[in-house]
Amino acid sequence: MRLTDQEQEILKGKHGEAPRIALSVLVDLGEVFGAQEMMRVSQVHIDMTIYMVDAGVEFAERLADLGGKVAVPTSLNPSAIDLERWKEYRAPAKLLDKSRRLENAYLRMGATPTWTCVPYQQGMIPRFGEQIAWGESNAIAFANSIIGARTNRYGDLMDICAAIIGKVPKFGLHLTENRKAEVLIQLKEISREMFENKAIYPLLGFLIGEMAGDRVAAIKGIPQDVKIDSLKGLCAAAASSGAVGLLHIIGVTPEAQSLEMCLQGTKPREILQIMPKMIQDAEERLSTAKEDMADLIIVGCPHFSFAEFRELAQLMEGRKVNRSVTFWAITSRAVFGWIKNCGILKDLTDSGVMVFTDVCPLQYPKETWHFNGTMTNSGKFANYCFSQTGLDVTFGSLEECVDTAVTGKLCRRESPWGKN
Ligand code: F3S
Repeated sequence: MRLTDQEQEILKGKHGEAPRIALSVLVDLGEVFGAQEMMRVSQVHIDMTIYMVDAGVEFAERLADLGGKVAVPTSLNPSAIDLERWKEYRAPAKLLDKSRRLENAYLRMGATPTWTCVPYQQGMIPRFGEQIAWGESNAIAFANSIIGARTNRYGDLMDICAAIIGKVPKFGLHLTENRKAEVLIQLKEISREMFENKAIYPLLGFLIGEMAGDRVAAIKGIPQDVKIDSLKGLCAAAASSGAVGLLHIIGVTPEAQSLEMCLQGTKPREILQIMPKMIQDAEERLSTAKEDMADLIIVGCPHFSFAEFRELAQLMEGRKVNRSVTFWAITSRAVFGWIKNCGILKDLTDSGVMVFTDVCPLQYPKETWHFNGTMTNSGKFANYCFSQTGLDVTFGSLEECVDTAVTGKLCRRESPWGKN
């Protein structure tokens, strides 16, 4: 790679050991991907805030001990626990200790304590075309696709290196030519009634991710009035079933006002279709539970927005969570403050819903939780749940999650795609 004089000085350690380590990691990354030079980014989102392995803690602590400081605004993904309500979350001591160490390391380096996987709904919002370096797959897909900002799928630990240097190697989705759609996915025979059931969006995302893999896809047939939270759920699911960094939704997303626009004058290499039967099939495949068992309901993956809480509160109005069920709704600290101020938090708490912040439920603490099965309206959580936590899962709409929580029995409603 061609490095500037200043970058060469950093590599020689003239600006300190933390920048030297960070830049050497980024240069290695750039050389693997054939980048010619480094480029500036204006903000970073750190993924490796969820304790998974000791190496993640030790790397962050080492950079902090060496005086590493972030050079650009840097947001933080969730922790493995609710950092304030960890007792109610029944966080085991080991997880609490490791999470606290991660928290301290990133805060010492100057990161913003957002503790959310939806920085794009919490004030860390890049503009169209802005070059950023984000970790966290749902956030990456959302930033590239829905906002039109530019980031690669930065892996754990690359993100903090990018934050310390304020630069990344110039390759991949940072470049216009790599943002053109290669595969066209057409939605066929999907009625308006189907789109009115919001559960369709994570299911479509799951299918799109499987079909696209690591290719940029253009999607034809999503209604123009799709809500932002539905796009959030679609991106999250797509980035879990495939290595999706960018998808174009024709007529919806900014680089896809037309098919021609997102193809950049080329033709798609492949044209695929999604039919109602495939959506039904995806719903079945996302459910691993063999029995009608769900004693834990989890919503808020990605973290719930204020609008999603309003909807949940309306569905819970006048109802109570059954004593045999635990119902968790997860969000950011910012949204938690809003629902507290307007009374939604009290209404939900009174009805038996527990609201947590800061946390990603995929780091399921088996030592202190003893649930038998979970139900979720998240395509991403359903996709990862069994493999990552060992807990069986049933995917369902938010309405079905609430019905199940209230009755204590797994409730299903007939979905419009199931009638086909
Ligand atoms: Fe967020 Fe964890 Fe879901 S990071 S998107 S709550 S799997």
